[in-house]
Amino acid sequence: MKRILSGIQPSGVLHIGNYFGMMEKMINHQASADLFCFIANYHAMTTVQDGPTLSKNTFDTAATFLALGIDPEKSTFWVQSDVPEVQDLTWALSTITPMGLLERCHSYKDKTAKGIAANHALFAYPVLMAADILIFQSNVVPVGRDQKQHLEVARDLAIKFNFQFGDTFTVPEPEIDDNVAVIPGVDGQKMSKSYGNTIDIFTTKEALRQTIMTIKTDAARVEDPKDPDKCNLYAIYKLFVDENGRQEMRARYKNGGLKYSDVKKELTELIWNKFEPNRARYEELSRNPDEIRRILKMGAEKARAVAKKTIGEVRGRMGLEY
Ligand code: ADP
Ligand code: TRP
Repeated sequence: MKRILSGIQPSGVLHIGNYFGMMEKMINHQASADLFCFIANYHAMTTVQDGPTLSKNTFDTAATFLALGIDPEKSTFWVQSDVPEVQDLTWALSTITPMGLLERCHSYKDKTAKGIAANHALFAYPVLMAADILIFQSNVVPVGRDQKQHLEVARDLAIKFNFQFGDTFTVPEPEIDDNVAVIPGVDGQKMSKSYGNTIDIFTTKEALRQTIMTIKTDAARVEDPKDPDKCNLYAIYKLFVDENGRQEMRARYKNGGLKYSDVKKELTELIWNKFEPNRARYEELSRNPDEIRRILKMGAEKARAVAKKTIGEVRGRMGLEY
């Protein structure tokens, strides 16, 4: 059975970009794969530098994932820092990482261009991510397109290590769904916690309604025919309906007479109903941090057993055992 692994940073409230880009796929994979799913709190430390906030976000991310359907009995679900062996591997991989490989990574350049302080951990971020993937011998890594380059770093390092020290790591494959590669935010840019343009998964109906109302649309008049493929509102709408629903909405755009405010009302209902079955579980978990802790510790034990085996091999091959 294939091992499928991915992680998500607890850097803020989870949104529908995270859901369609990564979470939904992970949850669906549980049926047929050996799923490893973790909360990347070491990674989040590169940008969230307030202890109580990071800790709260970690609980909230766990509650969201569990409420959406991650089954901790079937899958391995844990918090990154509960498996500290990954840091040991990060150092080992750092010693074979050419500077140029990291200098080329656009995620670092994008983040610093946005004003995030250029700390060393932010620069070395892809090496820790490679360690996450390789320590668990992952076959497949589902991520949004923004993470593609980081996956290439992980593959490069696996191949290089195997060549220099002998076959140790599985070389992972990315899984990127082109249909939902980049979900736009309410302003039309990539939806991201750090751009303040998100539509959150679990929120109140009123907050959801208000957010949807801020989705940017063009200044076309009601009677004008409109192009759905140029409309940010449609790009979000289409995620929540099937092919028939898409065709119907496309016809309404093209025929003229469409009011964006009507589409926004319909979209609010669609999003609300989509996550309705999961809302009670989310609220219940949010009130029970001990239950979340218990689930995460159980996951960390399972993950740690795998990590220990890999790191043992790495230490041996690199000469740390004597
Ligand atoms: P954010 O940009 O909001 O901080 P993360 O970087 O923590 O989100 O991303 C977590 C996961 O969700 C990654 O796999 C990422 O590719 C995916 N993801 C985030 N935003 C989007 C988006 N707008 N469209 C598609 N996938 C996304
Ligand atoms: N960098 C990823 C993101 O921001 C999160 C992440 C950390 C990850 N380690 C990983 C994803 C390992 C996949 C595999 O979304």
